Amino acid sequence: MIELGVNIDHIATVRQARRTVEPDPVWAAVMAELGGADGITVHLREDRRHINDRDVALLRETVRCKLNLEMACVEEIVKIACKTVPDQATLVPERREEITTEGGLDVAGQKSTVQKMVRCLQDCGVVVSLFLDPDPQQIESGIATGCDAIEIHTGRYALAENDQARNAERARILAVGEMIVSAGLRLHAGHGLTYHNVLPIAEIPKMQELNIGHSIISRALMSGLKEAVAEMKRLLGTVQNNSK
Ligand code: PXP
Repeated sequence: MIELGVNIDHIATVRQARRTVEPDPVWAAVMAELGGADGITVHLREDRRHINDRDVALLRETVRCKLNLEMACVEEIVKIACKTVPDQATLVPERREEITTEGGLDVAGQKSTVQKMVRCLQDCGVVVSLFLDPDPQQIESGIATGCDAIEIHTGRYALAENDQARNAERARILAVGEMIVSAGLRLHAGHGLTYHNVLPIAEIPKMQELNIGHSIISRALMSGLKEAVAEMKRLLGTVQNNSK
């Protein structure tokens, strides 16, 4: 069965909105595991805008399924990964001003740097995945780095404005997926996947792992909000202050 990696960065984003202690991504990881997540994915950004070093250290101690650490291809973060030893590292591009990871890693343009980071992580016992656009040149360069897996960026598929554009994008993903599988690497995909668009991607032959964040966390807010309000009402119902 295809593995589901749940990206919980948004939990930390809500926490950082108040610079407080809740909601805690460590608690969210437990809940995701109880729901059947096969992996917990977090992105330790250089600017620490959501997930921070404390989260990564605690998640390493508490996560029982696969811990997948997304990171930029830079020494500072790779060093942290080598110390923490997540089960998997996913190398992604990072730009300070972006809202989310907007494109795949340009591995073709920086082969030797990526190769160095891949080796460094593998030497520490970490499985390495590269987050790449469904572009044959990037995929070829990615395979040449000696990485263990490639996660195809499904952002353009997710944002396609009509069926024709979506089908064309799926065909590109399918074609590079074959290249990845033929090279003996694990095939992963993610970004922008939702309850509405995930199945055609999950059905791609040999797809092994999907990483999904925004859609699942959004759904969780809606399925949990009613109960959270009811709990506050029950609590207030215990107060007798003669306000009427
Ligand atoms: N995979 C990678 C490499 C990502 O950077 C992200 C977003 O942080 C995701 C998957 C999840 O994307 P989404 O939140 O749109 O589901």
